[in-house]
Amino acid sequence: MFVLGIESSCDETAAAVVRDGKEMLSSVIHSQIETHMAWGGVVPEIAAREHLIKIEPVVEKALSDAKISAADLDAVAVTQGPGLIGSLLVGVCYAKAFAYGLGIPIVGVNHIEGHVFSVTLENPPVEFPALALIVSGGHTNIFYIPEPGEYRIVSRTRDDAAGEAFDKAAKMLGLGYPGGPVIERFAREGDARKIHFPTAKISDGRPDMSFSGLKTALVRYMRENSVEPANGEVSQEIKDIAAGFQRAVIRGLMKSFEKLAVDLRPRSLIVAGGVACNFALRAAAEELGEKLNIPAYFPSKHLSTDNAAMIAAAGHFQLARGERADLDLAADVTLRLQNSRTDDFERGRRGNYRR
Ligand code: KG4
Ligand code: ZN
Repeated sequence: MFVLGIESSCDETAAAVVRDGKEMLSSVIHSQIETHMAWGGVVPEIAAREHLIKIEPVVEKALSDAKISAADLDAVAVTQGPGLIGSLLVGVCYAKAFAYGLGIPIVGVNHIEGHVFSVTLENPPVEFPALALIVSGGHTNIFYIPEPGEYRIVSRTRDDAAGEAFDKAAKMLGLGYPGGPVIERFAREGDARKIHFPTAKISDGRPDMSFSGLKTALVRYMRENSVEPANGEVSQEIKDIAAGFQRAVIRGLMKSFEKLAVDLRPRSLIVAGGVACNFALRAAAEELGEKLNIPAYFPSKHLSTDNAAMIAAAGHFQLARGERADLDLAADVTLRLQNSRTDDFERGRRGNYRR
């Protein structure tokens, strides 16, 4: 079964062909980073316009790279949300017209579920229950996944996403956009022990996360120590700040991830989303897996940031369960990943989030 995946929720226009939910025949990503760089972050209006220009050539390239024609496709899977409305609309409208024209089924995929499925394409089958840390520029959540397709949210960020924290810190330090890769690069040349940034404490005892205080700590440190943003040359002090900041973000993520892994005893760990590119985070999650004697799965770099192969893989899973969307499939900016039992779980875990 050939599924065409389409992803346009933020600033990547992507299309991919995946066979039987597992074999990635093509994966084309047009990144708009260059376009948004001048603005220091994604400009929604510009993103939507660029998706509109790129979607057709990107889909065509995905088909030609896969060496198939549109008539060979069995279904289309498209990111329905969450994301930017203008960006989502381009993908959803295009996918509906494409599927309608070919007379094949279409399914809407939750972008975050796509990130979960990104680990299924290049790894051995995941053992369930799994505990998944999905961490990107837009989301930072931990899901308990008792079986494929069932999601219980067990931790969320109370404010900024971890990738967003990297992006904002890099901007303040004059290191450019996107922040994650550049902070990681300079952190490697810095000493993380030089500057201590705090890890947020959640007062109600939930295993939630928080990253906005870190940003404030960085502003304060720069002001009190008269640190100027880098302007071309990157000083050792900025490298040390980058290292300390990266360490604090990872500590914040791992604190919740470890607590939940110990309490919920999953049979595997998953770390996915753009921030999963971060080597130090991977090392920390791998170490946790070793400590608990369970495997830790990560997508390759190509599949960590936004892509359409993960959408096709998640879509294949839905199609295999007999799910189909209608032509009234609508983009949903705040689409949530959870199922009916999640609420019971949430209720049950108040004060005690054991199974
Ligand atoms: O998944 P993604 O491509 O888009 C969203 O759905 O948000 O993730 C992009 C995010 C950005 O915030 C970027 O700074 C972060 O992932 N990122 C990283 C690294 N590479 C990308 N964060 C930390 N370390 C990295 N190496
Ligand atoms: Zn994403």
